[in-house]
Amino acid sequence: MPFTIAIDGPAASGKGTIARALARRYGFHHLDTGLLYRAVGAKGGDAVAVARSLVPADLERPDLRSNEAGQAASRVAAIPEVRQALVEFQRRFAVQEPGAVLDGRDIGTVICPDARLKLYVIASDAVRARRRAAEIGADPAETLAALRERDARDSSRQTAPLLAAEDAITLDTTDMTIDEAVAIAVAEVEARRG
Ligand code: CDP
Repeated sequence: MPFTIAIDGPAASGKGTIARALARRYGFHHLDTGLLYRAVGAKGGDAVAVARSLVPADLERPDLRSNEAGQAASRVAAIPEVRQALVEFQRRFAVQEPGAVLDGRDIGTVICPDARLKLYVIASDAVRARRRAAEIGADPAETLAALRERDARDSSRQTAPLLAAEDAITLDTTDMTIDEAVAIAVAEVEARRG
């Protein structure tokens, strides 16, 4: 049985960093599922048709990390048919040997409800905005407003809202270094590897 790790949480909470570190450490596959929605939003046009015909090259666009691409992503991510079109790909990705780490909003709740480990990563608004603004070279105040708007939309949508799975472990990275957060995640993996 492949070892599947689900990592969810609000925008720029540190999910991606932890997911990449775990994947590297264990030789697992990693999927940043937010990129799928960013790619659909960035292409424009009929979002459902775009989601159904998404190809790997669409994930390579250089502009997908911007605040604007994040907003476009969260708008198309609220469309049930868009989400549905991306489910199969994510579920197949999740069961690859020897393991897979997926990060997003609904991995532990919808995509991989049977994941061996579920983490729900959070951090204060101010810290998230500071980290993301530094990462993409954007204005911190503008980034804070964009993150809050996205979190509100992601949490209030009808289909697969941002939500911690009941059996998820919450990791508050506000006052943690990357190494500290990764060490806790690694300890949780080790506790389940037997
Ligand atoms: O990196 P960050 O946390 O800022 O965002 P992301 O993971 O790239 O996701 C961008 C947007 O895609 C989110 O605001 C969600 O609206 C949407 N998304 C989603 O609905 N479900 C997922 N599994 C991943 C992302």
